[in-house]
Amino acid sequence: MIIAIDGPAASGKGTLAKRIAVHYGFRHLDSGLLYRGVGMAVILSGGALHDKSAAIAAAQAYDPGRFPEDDLKSDEVAKAASIVAAIPEVRTALIALQRSFAQSKPGAVIDGRDIGTVIAPEAEVKIYVTATAEERAGRRVRELQGRGGLVDAAAVLADIKARDERDMNRAVAPLKPAPDAVLLDTTYLGIDAAVRAAIDIVEAVRAGR
Ligand code: DC
Repeated sequence: MIIAIDGPAASGKGTLAKRIAVHYGFRHLDSGLLYRGVGMAVILSGGALHDKSAAIAAAQAYDPGRFPEDDLKSDEVAKAASIVAAIPEVRTALIALQRSFAQSKPGAVIDGRDIGTVIAPEAEVKIYVTATAEERAGRRVRELQGRGGLVDAAAVLADIKARDERDMNRAVAPLKPAPDAVLLDTTYLGIDAAVRAAIDIVEAVRAGR
């Protein structure tokens, strides 16, 4: 069984995917980490983010164990990921790993932007998670504040909007709901309520099989 969870930055899809995977005993892949790993490799190589050849080389030599997950979570790396993710050859280089993960037994939960549309169009369950840009920015601001330090809320919102714009308008595998995805708007849902709603969606699909 494959569960595809797509949606924009800070929509809560990562947390949802993790919790659904635990609930069903499935394996979980955060596909954003792949693009973040490529973005990080380009940053470290000192290459310009728009230098396609550096990004393509990093994607083709992708090593899942190269960077600790925590190092990939910064907003700088998120932006780099979004830029390199628009390069078609970068996406192609990362397809096989994701498709083979999707075959995990007894099941796989993968979250990203194009899981239901490109990576696993055959997924039995597709959930498209949304929330307003303001709510998503607010969540990110609270997360950053929780770690201490000053946060420029206006800059966080601007970054989220810029990333949405890039992810939704690129030529290859843009962020959009698959035609058969169920929409889950988490703007007014706490995380527990969102997880319950997502599990209800999975259960409804399983009951209908
Ligand atoms: O999910 P995330 O915020 O960690 O993803 C970081 C960036 O990676 C995102 O802005 C666009 C890109 N990405 C993608 O293009 N396709 C995916 N399946 C996952 C992420």
